[in-house]
Amino acid sequence: MARHHTPDQLAAWQALERHARTLRQVHLKELFVQSECRWSAFTRTVNGLTLDLSKQRWNDETLGHLLALAEEAGLPGAIEALLSGQRVNVSENRPALHTALRLPAEATLTVEGDDIVAAVHESLAQMERLVERLHAGQWRGATGKPIRHVVNLGVGGSDLGPLMVTHALADYRPEDIHPVEVHFASTMDGSQLADYLARFNPETTLFILSSKSFTTIDTLSNANTAKDWLLGRLSEHDDMAGSDPVSAELIVRQHFIGVSASPEKMCAWGIAPDHQLMFWEWVGGRYSLWGTIGLPIALIVGMAHFRALLAGAHAMDNHFRQAPLDQNLPVLLGLAGIWNVNFLDIRAHSILPYDGRLEYFAAYLEQLEMESNGKSVTRQGEEVGYSTCPVLWGQLGPNAQHAFYQLLHQGTQPVVCDFIAPLKRYDDIEDPDTQRHLKAQHRLALANCFAQSRVLMLGDDAVDEEGTPPAHKRYRGNQPSTTVLMDELTPHTLGALIALYEHKVFVQAVIWDINPFDQWGVELGKAIAKETQAMMEGESALDSLDASSQGLIRTFRAAEQG
Ligand code: F6P
Repeated sequence: MARHHTPDQLAAWQALERHARTLRQVHLKELFVQSECRWSAFTRTVNGLTLDLSKQRWNDETLGHLLALAEEAGLPGAIEALLSGQRVNVSENRPALHTALRLPAEATLTVEGDDIVAAVHESLAQMERLVERLHAGQWRGATGKPIRHVVNLGVGGSDLGPLMVTHALADYRPEDIHPVEVHFASTMDGSQLADYLARFNPETTLFILSSKSFTTIDTLSNANTAKDWLLGRLSEHDDMAGSDPVSAELIVRQHFIGVSASPEKMCAWGIAPDHQLMFWEWVGGRYSLWGTIGLPIALIVGMAHFRALLAGAHAMDNHFRQAPLDQNLPVLLGLAGIWNVNFLDIRAHSILPYDGRLEYFAAYLEQLEMESNGKSVTRQGEEVGYSTCPVLWGQLGPNAQHAFYQLLHQGTQPVVCDFIAPLKRYDDIEDPDTQRHLKAQHRLALANCFAQSRVLMLGDDAVDEEGTPPAHKRYRGNQPSTTVLMDELTPHTLGALIALYEHKVFVQAVIWDINPFDQWGVELGKAIAKETQAMMEGESALDSLDASSQGLIRTFRAAEQG
C-alpha cells in the first residue's frame, strides 16, 4: 500500500513554497504590467457566472504548480467519490450526497443498494403538495382560518440557507397565490420569536420545525414556546365545525410542519405523520437547502423556481465533475484560496456582494466554509502542520465600504476579498422613470465594486497624482481579490453560485486532507451549556468552576433575584 503523504510533503507543495519565496516580493500591480492577457488567462465563464481571478497575486507558473498539487492530492478521484456516493464523511462513516438532492428525476444513483433519486423526488413531490395547499389557501389553522404567516424555527443549516435564498429570490414570488408570508426565528434567547408572537394571530400562523437531528435546543426551545402560545390562545376557540373547543392534538397538527431526518423524534414531539417532511443522514445540515429544509424557499418562490434553483446547482455539479481542472470554476476558486492561505499567509477572507438581495450570503458562507473546513486534524486523525480555513466574514459591499473597508485599504492585515454582483438588474420594472433611476443605481453599485477591487490592487497607483501623499493618505494596495459576476440573479444562477462555493470548500478540504462534512467542534459547548444551565438554576454546586464562571453565574443570580 502506498505510504500516505501529508499535503506539505507533496512535491507540488514544496515547489509552491519555493515559487512563493520569489512571488511574495512582487506587487500585484507588477503582475499586470508583466502580462497583458491576465484577464483572459485568469477568467472563466460557466453557467451564467464569470469568475475573474486575475486580481489574485499569482501567475501562470503558480497556477501550474497548484494544478499539479490538485492532481497529486488526488482531487479528480475525490470528486468522483463525492458525487458517486462513497463514504467521504469518514468520521461519521457515511456519504455526503447533497448533490443527489438536485439530480433530475430521470437520473439514476444507486447508493449501497438503494435508488436514491426516486426517494429524493418523492420527498420533493410531498413538499410540493404542502406548498400547493398553502398557496391555494387550503391549509387551515385549527379554527378553520387560512394560514397567513409561516415561521421557520431552525438554526445553522436549518435556517441560514433558506433565509439567504428567500431573501435573494423574493422577486420570484408567483402571482395569484394566497398571500403567505415567511419569517425566520433562530435565536435560542427567543427574541425573534417573541416579536412574531406579539404581532401575529395564532389562528393563522403555522410553524415549520426544521431540525435535521431534532435535538437542537435552540430550535426546540423556540418550538416549545410557540406550542404553548398556540395552546394557550387557541384552546378557548371552537373547532372548524363550531361545535367543540379545539383539541390540543388538532392545534399541534394544523400549526406545525416538521422537517427532520428523525421521524421517530418528530412523532414523539407531536408532529402529525402526514405533516412530516423527511431527509436523510447523508445530507449535511449546512448542505441541506436543496431538499425539504428548503420548504420556506419553495413557499416564497413556488416549486417551479425552486426546481430551477436545483437545476442551476446541478449544472455546476456536472461542470465540477466533467471540466478539466484548469477550466473548472470550483477547482480554480479553491486553489486560489490554498495559495493565499498556505503560501502568502493571508488568513482573512471577506465576502462582499454588491446587491442588496444577497444580504445574507456572507452569513451563509460563514457556516458553509468555517464549519466545514475549520479543522485541525487530518482524515487520518493526525494534527495538521499547516493552516486550514481562513477567518471568513462579510456583508453587503456598499455598506461595508462605510464600515470596515478602512482596514482593507490601510490596516495591517492582509485580506482577500470576493466581490459578487449581477450584471443585469431591474429589467422587470414597468415604470420607465423608476427603471431609469434604479438602473443608474445598479450602475453606481457596479462602479463601486469595480473601483474597490482596483484600488485594493493598485493602491496609490489608482490615481494620477503628482508627488507622494502624506503617510496617512497612502494606500499600499497589493490586496488580492476575486470577482464573481452573475449574468442576472435568477434561481438558476443562484443555484450555480451556491454550488460553486460548496465545491470550492470540498476542493480545499481535499488538498488539506480534512473532512469537511462533520462538525465535532460544536459539541463540547452544547454539553457544557447544559451543565451550566443546571448550575444557574441552582440544581448543582458551582465549586468545581473557575473563578470567572462562578462570578458570572453569581452576578446573574443576584440580578434575577433583585
Ligand atoms: O451545532 C451545529 C449544527 O449541528 C449545524 O451543523 C447544523 O446546521 C445546526 O446545528 C442545526 O442542526 P439541526 O438541523 O440538527 O437542528
